Amino acid sequence: MEKLVIEGNHQLRGEVQISGAKNAVLPIMAAALLVAGETKINRVPDLRDTRTMAKLLEVIGVQIQFADGKMMIDATSIDKPIAPYDLVNKMRASFYVLGPLVARFGKAIVSLPGGCAWGPRPVDYHLKGLEKLGAKIELEGGDIIAKSKKLIGNKIRFDFPSVGATGNIIMAATLAKGETKIENAAKEPEIVQLCEFLVSMGAKIDGIGTTDIIVEGVNELLPCEVSVIPDRIEAGTFLIAGAALGKITLKNTIPEHLSVVIEKLTEVGAEVVIDKNDITVKRAKKINAVDVTTAVFPGFATDLQAQWIALMSIATGSSIVTDTIYNDRFSHVPELNRLGANITVEGNSAIVRGVKGLVGAKVRSTDIRASASLILAGLMAKGVTEVNHIHHIDRGYEKIENKFAQLGAKIKRISVDD
Ligand code: EPU
Repeated sequence: MEKLVIEGNHQLRGEVQISGAKNAVLPIMAAALLVAGETKINRVPDLRDTRTMAKLLEVIGVQIQFADGKMMIDATSIDKPIAPYDLVNKMRASFYVLGPLVARFGKAIVSLPGGCAWGPRPVDYHLKGLEKLGAKIELEGGDIIAKSKKLIGNKIRFDFPSVGATGNIIMAATLAKGETKIENAAKEPEIVQLCEFLVSMGAKIDGIGTTDIIVEGVNELLPCEVSVIPDRIEAGTFLIAGAALGKITLKNTIPEHLSVVIEKLTEVGAEVVIDKNDITVKRAKKINAVDVTTAVFPGFATDLQAQWIALMSIATGSSIVTDTIYNDRFSHVPELNRLGANITVEGNSAIVRGVKGLVGAKVRSTDIRASASLILAGLMAKGVTEVNHIHHIDRGYEKIENKFAQLGAKIKRISVDD
């Protein structure tokens, strides 16, 4: 096990390179299952989650090479369309292989993800969608067994624009017979990139980036090459850090993916300057308390909610941070309170009463974004903060301590005995 030890209250200054997006590369890797041949992916972040997905694809029979941010996936000969419990249990995004496997092989056995640290997180939309395309779905021994000789296009309406279900059904529909219309689809940038990647493989998709997506099935797709978009959540995390702690220039971003965060940071009092793909953020002299309600894209991302609460914990005044995507995603709150924050949770809102300053303590991270929130809080706190259970942060942030250290943070990774 490892922990991060942070000596807080130091200014941050300099440039940081933003990595490729975790939530874009994972569905792209799954989509490589749709095609016999070599898919080349550039700007792949070296994360626990990308490695878990690579391991899963290898279990299925895929050949993978991964070095220096380049991944080659050869799914020509796949012999075992199975996603086992131990991998799905580590990473729910493993469920992305379901649609591609059923579409290409007519069968998939994928372990049903359980609940997670912040709620049940069901996959019913994925399953209902595949059933609409004609797949027969059964649950046996905790595994979903999906079968279909040939998927047939249909009209599918999601009750909520789920990112994962939209991606899964689009991938399945690319090889279905006829037209699939998805209403109330997700339009997150990661889904847009997945669609564009599928189109470059020969898929026919209309309405990309809107809530109504039409996929006209084709007989086969061709292998191609793609570069992963920059991670807007990693970028948002560094923007929030800069707003509290100094002057940071983020290199390689897509500013349009961050419009709401930038708007909110300006309200907070930070100065934000965009120059093509770079964004510079300068700390707010006084951090104003600003309410946030998470929403689907282009709204404020739930994946930045925990980091926002960390910033608000030292604001002047009180703010309300509401999560409408996940009702119970507040496991970071008791840990932030250990650092002296004054936050209470009521329903799906956190009431954050700003305090003058945080004071370092030992804390424990419970998921990827909670870890990011605790690191930010540790950087803002006086004294030493130890963030334990940091395997979570490695799932979604590439070398986060090195990136912060380059900006002047006093942060070290240390091995600990269990
Ligand atoms: N939902 C259902 N049924 C379903 C699917 C979703 O009820 O079949 C509900 C969920 O419980 C949730 C809402 O719909 O309340 C949205 O879930 P969604 O399916 O959109 O989330 P996801 O695809 O499981 C992705 C990201 C998450 C991110 C959410 C929301 C990946 C690999 N994961 O999850 O990222 O929070 O979209 O934007 O893309 C993270 O990176 O830390 C992370 C959790």
